[in-house]
Amino acid sequence: MSKEFDGRTAIVTGAGAGIGRATALQLAELGARVIVADLHAETAHDTVRAITTAGGTAIAVVGDLSDQDVVDHLVSHTVATYGVIDILVNNAGIMDDMSGPHEVSDATWERVIRVNLTAPFLLIRAVVPHMLNRGHGAIVNTTSEAGLRGSAAGTAYTVSKHGLVGLTKSAAVIYRDKGIRVNAVAPGGVATSLEVNMKPDAMGLAVIGGFANNVGRIAQAEQLAAVIIFLASDAASNVNGAIVPVDNGWSAI
Ligand SMILES: NC(=O)c1ccc[n+]([C@@H]2O[C@H](COP(=O)([O-])OP(=O)(O)OC[C@H]3O[C@@H](n4cnc5c(N)ncnc54)[C@H](O)[C@@H]3O)[C@@H](O)[C@H]2O)c1
Repeated sequence: MSKEFDGRTAIVTGAGAGIGRATALQLAELGARVIVADLHAETAHDTVRAITTAGGTAIAVVGDLSDQDVVDHLVSHTVATYGVIDILVNNAGIMDDMSGPHEVSDATWERVIRVNLTAPFLLIRAVVPHMLNRGHGAIVNTTSEAGLRGSAAGTAYTVSKHGLVGLTKSAAVIYRDKGIRVNAVAPGGVATSLEVNMKPDAMGLAVIGGFANNVGRIAQAEQLAAVIIFLASDAASNVNGAIVPVDNGWSAI
């Protein structure tokens, strides 16, 4: 029996854990060949094992995706192995320490912006030429509630996720007549291993401390994966430049 993503190749970043892993597993179950890209070798290989044990097709590419050389290797290895790239899920990300603008260290600012915003940009820049060649492609970025409002994280994370919203919309418009769609999900609270190294005295945390009350019901990673997969699928063929909150109504408050 044919499956929805049969013959399609999907790169999923941050696929060793959390939302990325759930997305990789669901895409593989629906027939996609999945490239599991993650910083951590052990978890990346765990995801690949879970996919292949269930009869799916996947390979791991391990490395820091904020490094241009790793991105180049990821894309050339994908094309060498599977010939095409149909889907890019830009999902890998890190939290900040909830600090406000006057408290953010250079190191935190640069790392959070690099991983959450520059890496998705590098990946889009590398993948799009392959999609343009075929006039076909779907990109889904994982932004955040913090990409929609100023009260869901510290400054560096909030800026990085607002930037990712801008990247999503810009790319969506620029490629809209070229067969490439670019959308994003904006998760609220999700039960994953995402680490928040909160400074106990961070002003950002003190100011937005009430945010925990607004998160509401915590989602499971699979609930995010289901929306990412919809956006990557032909069922969403007229959805482009959308930022879809998956937050049990948090952004509607
Ligand atoms: N969990 C939440 O509540 C929540 C809320 C809003 C947005 N998000 C976003 O969802 C995305 C996925 O996060 P998650 O919650 O599944 O967290 P997670 O920590 O469980 O998974 C993130 C994965 O990304 C990988 N990663 C991190 N930096 C990387 C890098 N430089 N190169 C390659 N891989 C890297 C990690 O190794 C990890 O496997 C992130 O972009 C995060 O900002 C999460």
